Amino acid sequence: MAKQKIAYVCSDCGAEHTKWQGQCMACSEWNTLTRILLGPATAPSAPKNFKRPPGGGETGAPVASVQTLGKIDLDEQPRFTTTISEFDRVLGGGLVPGSVVLIGGNPGAGKSTLLLQVMCQLSQSMEALYVTGEESLQQVGMRARRLGLPVDNLKMLAETNVTEITRVAEERQPKIIVVDSIQVMYSADVASAPGSVSQVRECAAYLIQYAKQTGTALFLVGHVTKDGNLAGPKVLEHMIDCFMMLDGDGDSRYRTLRGQKNRFGAVNELGVFAMTGTGMKEVKNPSAIFLAREEDISPGSIVVVLWEGTRPLLVEIQALVDASQYGNPRRVSVGLDNNRVAMLLAVLHRHGGMFMADQDVFVNVVGGVRVAETSADLAVLLAIVSSFRNKALPRELVVFGEVGLAGEIRPVPSGQERLSEAAKHGFTRAIVPKANAPKKKIDGMDVIAVSKLSDAIDALLSSL
Ligand code: TYD
Ligand code: MG
Repeated sequence: MAKQKIAYVCSDCGAEHTKWQGQCMACSEWNTLTRILLGPATAPSAPKNFKRPPGGGETGAPVASVQTLGKIDLDEQPRFTTTISEFDRVLGGGLVPGSVVLIGGNPGAGKSTLLLQVMCQLSQSMEALYVTGEESLQQVGMRARRLGLPVDNLKMLAETNVTEITRVAEERQPKIIVVDSIQVMYSADVASAPGSVSQVRECAAYLIQYAKQTGTALFLVGHVTKDGNLAGPKVLEHMIDCFMMLDGDGDSRYRTLRGQKNRFGAVNELGVFAMTGTGMKEVKNPSAIFLAREEDISPGSIVVVLWEGTRPLLVEIQALVDASQYGNPRRVSVGLDNNRVAMLLAVLHRHGGMFMADQDVFVNVVGGVRVAETSADLAVLLAIVSSFRNKALPRELVVFGEVGLAGEIRPVPSGQERLSEAAKHGFTRAIVPKANAPKKKIDGMDVIAVSKLSDAIDALLSSL
């Protein structure tokens, strides 16, 4: 028998090393290397004798042929809808046949529920196979009935052996497969336990190869902690086409589905769902839910217009500034990058003349939203100013803009659309970067365009 190859794989970044060492050379993490068996060097572990998609050789063997980029037939792979438009949006406009999508999230986020809803609907018009390795068939069946889903056509399989799964798939030829979850799958080719880096990697490679060769859309479910730590998903990221995270606080009923990688569409697209008593419901107008504000606004609260993928999103930012009891004042931010907030405070001191070194500063993005863009800079600073001065800001005010180290207010993309969205939600005043000032007046919106932080603070304080 051919000798088995051994590699040491980092569970954080997926880099491969030939020798074990304490620190990963690629990402510098400690104690993340795990020994994996790559299987016999000569025997390919992929399933044999797949039916090739049209275009392959007559014998089923792969035929290497060169094509001009412009002549490649694109109609061959039309996208199809998942029947949930928020989901389609994150996928970049529907599912591509033969694509592999990894859905990550904490246990209880709603991954199984969402995929079960999608699969039941899709099974009405195509062959669909749901592989459950975590829950029993009865459990899934009961859930589907309770949610009132169409249950007549979806094919179910309770199985964790990937060889068996591909065998069944070859027999039934589904157009779409869900594997829930990749962490419980195992392949007999690998000696280690399910859930280990080597098993997850090998099983995913096996299933992905099947999906690619047969043009089947494949959803893999992966449990990930917030920092993406659990074995598996990190090492999978470069094997799959799309990676999306389903996030949601335990106490909040809202779930956000965010694309982290997408070979077929814009990344960072955001889909919003609500977990209800009858399953996951899409939220078509997310601004409305994140903006539920009290009647009287307290100091430190402001609304910013973010840009999420291809659409604007209005969210509230809150700041609390309080005299520090300790020598080392606290800087805590939830939903924002801590370093960015520290940098903004330095700019505020240097260019806004406000001294915060003896103050604790807390900043929070309401509704559990995570801000990944710079357009919230100005809003964060103005919220801090508002709390520091203990003055509430006008309810009808929105703000966006990036703040530079020289105290300059920089423009952000899609200014016009952001303002229109704010106007649609009843806001009548806006402080925005000069270069984002609308060329055409927006009805009912009074826009103050600023180019320096000091101007923005003046505009703010004069509006109080
Ligand atoms: P689930 O889809 O099993 O999560 P995951 O597969 O990501 O681990 O969802 C489980 C949670 O969702 C559970 O805490 C209960 C809740 N839930 C509802 O609130 N309503 C429902 O209709 C369903 C099916 C689940
Ligand atoms: Mg589940």
